[in-house]
Amino acid sequence: MSAGAPDDAATARAAALRRQLTDAEHAYYVLDDPQISDAEYDALLRQLQALETEFPALQTPDSPTQRVGGSASSAFAPVQHRLPMRSLNNAFDEAEFLAFDRRVREGLDRAAVPYMAEPKLDGLAVNLRYEHGQFVQGATRGDGQTGEDITANLRTLRSLPLRLRDAPPSMIEVRGEVFMPHAGFARLNAEQSARGEKTFVNPRNAAAGALRQLDPRLTARRPLQLYVYALGAVDGYALPATQQALLDQFRRWGLPVNPLNARVEGVDDGLAYYQKLMAQRAELPFDIDGVVYKVDDLAARDELGELARAPRWAIAFKFPAEEAQTKLLDVEFQVGRTGAITPVARLVPVFVGGATVSNATLHNLDEIRRKDIHIGDTVIVRRAGDVIPEVKAVVVDQRPPDAGVIDLPQHCPACHAEVERSDDAVVARCPAGLGCPAQLHAALLHFVSRRALDIEGIGEKLIQQLIDEGLVAEPADLFAVTAETLMRLERMGEKSAANRITALAKAKHTTLARLLYGLGIRDVGERTADTLAQHFGRLEALQRACEADAQTADAEKDKDRYPQLRAVADVGPEVARRVVDWFSDPHKQAMVARLQTAGVHWPDVAVASGDGPLSGQRFVITGTLPESRDAVAARITAAGGQVVGSVSAKTDYLVAGEAAGSKLAKAEKLDVPVLDWAAFLKLLDASSP
Ligand code: IVH
Repeated sequence: MSAGAPDDAATARAAALRRQLTDAEHAYYVLDDPQISDAEYDALLRQLQALETEFPALQTPDSPTQRVGGSASSAFAPVQHRLPMRSLNNAFDEAEFLAFDRRVREGLDRAAVPYMAEPKLDGLAVNLRYEHGQFVQGATRGDGQTGEDITANLRTLRSLPLRLRDAPPSMIEVRGEVFMPHAGFARLNAEQSARGEKTFVNPRNAAAGALRQLDPRLTARRPLQLYVYALGAVDGYALPATQQALLDQFRRWGLPVNPLNARVEGVDDGLAYYQKLMAQRAELPFDIDGVVYKVDDLAARDELGELARAPRWAIAFKFPAEEAQTKLLDVEFQVGRTGAITPVARLVPVFVGGATVSNATLHNLDEIRRKDIHIGDTVIVRRAGDVIPEVKAVVVDQRPPDAGVIDLPQHCPACHAEVERSDDAVVARCPAGLGCPAQLHAALLHFVSRRALDIEGIGEKLIQQLIDEGLVAEPADLFAVTAETLMRLERMGEKSAANRITALAKAKHTTLARLLYGLGIRDVGERTADTLAQHFGRLEALQRACEADAQTADAEKDKDRYPQLRAVADVGPEVARRVVDWFSDPHKQAMVARLQTAGVHWPDVAVASGDGPLSGQRFVITGTLPESRDAVAARITAAGGQVVGSVSAKTDYLVAGEAAGSKLAKAEKLDVPVLDWAAFLKLLDASSP
């Protein structure tokens, strides 16, 4: 390290690096138009650090290297605000918002008043003082009169410019919100739990904690961000006419302003903004809890004036809270279509996310243990957008002494069959299949659903009644339901009953893909059902393939199992196993047969390579070949052939590669023709037209 004076080149280089870094911060946080990657930024920062270490004279207070390290001596010293930091009055519904607008219009004696509408950021308000363009002090709101000095911590926010651009006034205070975006919050919590430290309940708490760190180096590691939205005290600055112009000026000074802010011309426009923002809320990268409306005309604000606590010219129209506290009364277990038993929380009803919630999913036992949930706990319930309500966390210090531990049931709550537990004992499953009324209900609901057999007018309630009356025990039974039954059960008119019978009759004419999806085979969604239908063309072909593949279920090596199913595009070993197991179950076979007897039918799907030159020929693949086993199988099925797992007298060919073992021996014993790779290609060639 040379402690000498920097030469001209070093001085110029340092200045250039500082400008590049400040421009990058500005592009990222103010223009929302990143110019360089994080890695490039870090590399430039390190170069500047090295240069400043070599020549300390090159350091400037507003250098991007100086974000961390400002003296912490004044940390949290009280700061008397020159102008009070007021709060906002709230509106909790449309009527209150309209009443606010009426007061404003009457106060100003105008027919309509334009507002600046701004997302209400859920973070912490700060006051930032700049003197001669330099950031000199940052303070919390405190009680509105006196805040705390958090300058050193605020300097670490890269979105906070250490120096203003574009001829700023001699002294200006800017106010805004410091918050933690979701991505950073998730990362922080992941790090916290990896280190075995406590996680934060929400981004706001995490941001508050970060700003209160005594060591700014810790704040620097927390992903905080800033948007500014108001003015404090100023010297030597003539106010613009509107809030909109003020925000534009902030931006020109290099301060970050929320791009979602928008001017609205009156209440109707304002309500439309509210609805639009609420719809976007779940997708926004940060938390907001409403819309702040501010009279746009600054002179009109003076006319309206301020109350002690809040100005008359602004209001916060809150969104319905997405989180609320309530009590966990009990945990019940629900049985799904595939028999999975999931815990559901029964709650003291609470209004959250715009609706009253009395049930919430608890996902599984693992989740319950991780969140340390007990019966009787006070819990935080979250319902955001259309998302299913969930228990987010427990308020542990409010746990009653008799709080109950939650455990998986031993017996299915619907049919009392003994449950099967996964090895790690976190998932329980009812093994009773359609014999369990809960699974039967879910299975029938799935069978009639729009993407399956699409039977109109057969809903949850009717299905329940049919089950309760013992009229249906499997899908095929639905087709035996008569108009008289419907009229009796649902007390529906003759016409509606007839409509439902027509719908049932119509649904009998379906497609193979819909049928396969409607059967409710685990892991067979709409897409897989479709690929299976395309690949096999006919149900019988699929059944035959399953029959053959079932022989390979116990093969020692994974790659020897289920060759035919795995030859289907996108079907992996897991799905192959599910499909083979399903079609190998005699009960399921009978169920399909009864559907066909009931008149359910579908056209064959034209399989591109269906009746190929190798059709009817059975192949077994063994040993190491120049192509993967799946690729070889695909060549065979494309030519109409069948791939089976083990050699028998019915095998037409064994395709044998390097190091073939027992299968080769068996083929030789049974006189099955053996093809090496060259002979196999020749056969394919000879048989292609
Ligand atoms: S203006 C006198 N604008 O809401 C008006 N506040 O409940 C000063 N807030 O303490 C505030 N987003 O922390 C304003 N776009 C926004 C805001 C906002 C969030 C917070 C701020 C304030 C609180 C009042």
